[in-house]
Amino acid sequence: MTAGARAIWYDAGMRRDNVILVGFMGAGKSVCGRLLARRLGRCFVETDEMIAAVEGRSIPEIFRDAGETRFRQLEADTLESLKLKSGDVIATGGGTPCREGRPMLDGRTLAEIEELYRSRQPYYRRAHITIDTTGIGADQVVARILSALREAHAVRA
Ligand code: S3P
Repeated sequence: MTAGARAIWYDAGMRRDNVILVGFMGAGKSVCGRLLARRLGRCFVETDEMIAAVEGRSIPEIFRDAGETRFRQLEADTLESLKLKSGDVIATGGGTPCREGRPMLDGRTLAEIEELYRSRQPYYRRAHITIDTTGIGADQVVARILSALREAHAVRA
């Protein structure tokens, strides 16, 4: 998982004092983001949750009923509204920083998932901090994010 991806969002007009988690599906962005926010005493927001709340249906339902193009539009609208956020911890969807298609792992072969992962890595790598979450729990991931943020003087807590 990659965190504190301020460079990615700076161009997109996001405020630089947010901590934004980006990474592939299943990296632990939601669980770790929630924990991190609690540790920092900050608000936690999740782009997928915002989209589902606005639409009144789940992300899989949006994909099924309205299609991916519509989902990506909703994702873009959500990013627009996030420009108002300041000092929050924000968990994004796996495709948010990439702004290109091929979502959801359902019905994909392992080779296709690996290919999707590879194609997205350049976007994830643009984050200021990268945490390899392989084999470690959410608490440890959050501890590593926190110490990296402190080292970068990105947080005071
Ligand atoms: C997507 C990842 C999902 C969700 C949507 C598309 C993607 O979020 O935004 O299903 O394109 O990688 P998670 O990364 O939280 O699973």
